Amino acid sequence: MDTGTTFAARLIDWHRHHGRHDLPWQHTSGRPPDPYRIWLSEIMLQQTQVDTVIPYYARFLARFPDLATLAAAPVDDVLALWSGLGYYARARNLHKAAQVVVDLHGSDFPSHAAAIARLPGIGRSTAAAIAAFAFGERAAILDGNVKRVLCRVFGVDGFPGERAVEARLWALAESLLPDSGVGTYIQAQMDLGATVCRRSRPACARCPLADSCVARREDRIAELPAARPRKAVPQRRVRVAVIHAAGRVLLERRPPAGIWGGLLALPEIPDSEPDAGRWLQTRFGLAPRASLPLAPLNHAFTHFRLEITPIRFEVCEAGRNLAEAGHRWLALADLDAAGLPTPVRRILDALATGA
Ligand code: ADE
Repeated sequence: MDTGTTFAARLIDWHRHHGRHDLPWQHTSGRPPDPYRIWLSEIMLQQTQVDTVIPYYARFLARFPDLATLAAAPVDDVLALWSGLGYYARARNLHKAAQVVVDLHGSDFPSHAAAIARLPGIGRSTAAAIAAFAFGERAAILDGNVKRVLCRVFGVDGFPGERAVEARLWALAESLLPDSGVGTYIQAQMDLGATVCRRSRPACARCPLADSCVARREDRIAELPAARPRKAVPQRRVRVAVIHAAGRVLLERRPPAGIWGGLLALPEIPDSEPDAGRWLQTRFGLAPRASLPLAPLNHAFTHFRLEITPIRFEVCEAGRNLAEAGHRWLALADLDAAGLPTPVRRILDALATGA
């Protein structure tokens, strides 16, 4: 795309024929448009689809036709009308913001994005949308839809929720603003993101920006915008003892708290015991005929990954009576009944099948 003018002009032109023109908040009664109604619609639309919002918007306005009525109402009445829309902090903030406007601005809704953004529950993008729709201010928006369009059309890499990527997108959004017709342009961006440049299976054949879209040219539509990076999860390592005597293995009941709490599992060899054979002798009074490290396996928990290295010990007999200390000799033929944690089961299945 060569210039921002081209980007905006194409969107505005596309919106004339293909955008949404009949949404209730687009025809607010007064002239100039009623910022209260536009504000209400933008808050309802923050996390909710247009089709769901429409009946809620109508009911809300029937009960609270203007900002002063909303500010004077008990918050419970506001929440009752929000019931079913979800994200109730939106309703509480709406009510609080109405009171702030009455107190600070004498019921006149602030007319600049910077002042609107200081009200409870209104971020930079929503403030810009309200200022542009209600007052024609030349202010850029950057909601989820716009981020997706910009990342794809301009090939912006990186997760858009990350501070540096977001700063770049804001700068891009500002640079693309047209000199006039900002309200239509913003509505066009929202509509394109919602109906054409969808997250999955975008309708590129209908997109006015398709011929200059980097993601499309480079076949990266599915990759852009980049997904939230996965948090690095800590990796832990543990050695466990597979103590085997005549078709049976020694299991140990785990403490009630922590991973596999209360389940039978293979005994852990503490890190403080570099010599596993000697540990077996002192811990269980068992002298191994042979010991053999087996292939490590990985298990993912929610907060960490565990690499488990089993060490197999062949012992002659079942050793001293260990049952009273929460231990149990389990026949490899009885694995099903024991309710073992998955990795323990995998290790013992391999042992039972001689793998
Ligand atoms: N989502 C957020 N604001 C919107 C608007 N004005 N029209 C359609 N969808 C929206």
